[in-house]
Amino acid sequence: MPSTTVTGTEQATPAATVLKLRPTSENGTENGAQQEEPYRYAHLVPHFSEDRYPPLVPFDHVDPGFRALRHPNPRSFLDNATDVVEITPYLGTEVHGVQLTSLDSDGRDQLALEVARRGLIVFRDQHDFIDRGPEYYREWGRHFGRLHIHPTSGHPAGYPEIHLVYRDANSSFNFEISDSITSTYWHTDVSYELQPPGLTTFFLLAQPTTGGDTLFTSQVRTLKKLSPPFIEFLKGLKAIHSGMEQANFSKSGKRGATVRRDPVEHVHPLVRRHPVTGEEALYVNRQFTRRIVGLKKEESETILKFLYDHIDKGGDNQARVKWSPGTVVLWDNRVTAHSAIVDYGESKERRHGARITPQAERPIPANPGLDLGDGKPDPRL
Ligand SMILES: [Fe+2]
Repeated sequence: MPSTTVTGTEQATPAATVLKLRPTSENGTENGAQQEEPYRYAHLVPHFSEDRYPPLVPFDHVDPGFRALRHPNPRSFLDNATDVVEITPYLGTEVHGVQLTSLDSDGRDQLALEVARRGLIVFRDQHDFIDRGPEYYREWGRHFGRLHIHPTSGHPAGYPEIHLVYRDANSSFNFEISDSITSTYWHTDVSYELQPPGLTTFFLLAQPTTGGDTLFTSQVRTLKKLSPPFIEFLKGLKAIHSGMEQANFSKSGKRGATVRRDPVEHVHPLVRRHPVTGEEALYVNRQFTRRIVGLKKEESETILKFLYDHIDKGGDNQARVKWSPGTVVLWDNRVTAHSAIVDYGESKERRHGARITPQAERPIPANPGLDLGDGKPDPRL
């Protein structure tokens, strides 16, 4: 079986060309002339408009998973699967043989419930889904909630609801920390919003030959590993989640240098309850959680550091997705966290991903007596 060698270089503009994978013979000699071909998804590379967006307004979220609860067999959307494998006992399922594009409204409701229960589902061979394009991506996502429009990231021109990640030989339009010993950076997406995302769909349009996997962890399991008295203590706490740092990253000239909506901060419970499954999940993340309300600064920093370390080290709560062409992944942001792995930079290969991000309910505190007010942080803090 011939191996492949990465050849050629990409131009300064991300859309223009794609690295050509050129087969080599068994003894490693090249057997073809270097070629460049147009990038198939050039129409979906990041666009950074100068548009300005008003603040998001609250809305009523009706979770599609509720409808599936009334179904006599809410896993019937998997009936035609050729393979259903649990990636770990508590997090993640990999599915072969089901085309997401074949799911009707009922099937999508079932999917939402199954993702809520398993945290993460990986669908392989979804080329039909990926090739349907941004109009379809929006129609797909709107079934699950109001689509979030990201304040700073790039999107396909004309489709601000589609959040893009993009890196190639010459550019990165991702939120990346360059002066860290690791690219692992656990987070849940845009948790600074009053109504953060729920069921999220993500897929790659281009990927490196190897590397660029994505890590996931179950925040239900990270919570369950803690002692009952400590969990009870956490249930009485709420924290500020902030979009300021992400906005400042763009204001400094990185990632397209665009901030289209003023950054916001909101107060959320440290332990939230999933509206459909009733499961409780730890809800803090290193990227956006900044301060536990009502604690002294040192107390807040110590508890958050402990919880972040716990998330970091909990390999027994985690799953790792290795991407293959046509893979579409869905996760529930309310009960999981994730991290990119940027281990492919030296290959100079393109990694281009698209995310469809429906917002969900305002986080429900596991402790119903926890007063979150209007979600606005006290400005004196
Ligand atoms: Fe993310």
